[in-house]
Amino acid sequence: MEIAAIQLKTPEDVLELMNSRGGESYFGEDVTVLEHCLQAAHFAVETKSSPELVAAALLHDVGHLLHNEAEDIAGEGIDTRHEELAVHLLAEHLPAAVMDPIHMHVAAKRYLCFAEPAYCASLSSSSELSLQLQGGPMSEEEAGSFMALPFAQDAVKLRRWDDEAKIPELKVPQAETYLPLLKTLWR
Ligand SMILES: [Fe+2]
Repeated sequence: MEIAAIQLKTPEDVLELMNSRGGESYFGEDVTVLEHCLQAAHFAVETKSSPELVAAALLHDVGHLLHNEAEDIAGEGIDTRHEELAVHLLAEHLPAAVMDPIHMHVAAKRYLCFAEPAYCASLSSSSELSLQLQGGPMSEEEAGSFMALPFAQDAVKLRRWDDEAKIPELKVPQAETYLPLLKTLWR
């Protein structure tokens, strides 16, 4: 898989990446990657989440902007492991309370599919396809280990916003709105 040569040294770099590369459609959904991320962040704000979790929601799919693969890549049976890509570039700048939920948001889908069969049945077709590539629902043992991890609850919250953040033409604040928040967390 080809990884874009991108460096993220400042919060401004991250927002620039989102604004410049986030215009592609979000994996078969009716929103762009940028719209999807902004909606997820907005849902986190609406539920009065911590700044760290708002940042996690905003940045959870930055990994999708870091590879040069087409948006239908899951249809070719390839998992880009976008959650790992995001951690690779951002972990040195942001605390675990931001990075762990991002890292775990794919596993959280596998967890919810184990814990809530109705959740699994409600997944969009592209989400269901990627679930299979990501290993399918967790076993009971995997689910127990997952929920014992720090930030597992936050990862599950992020996952639910991730699933909801696919609403065409929903008006939400722009990426720049989150610059002060990112600056307080950045190191
Ligand atoms: Fe997402």
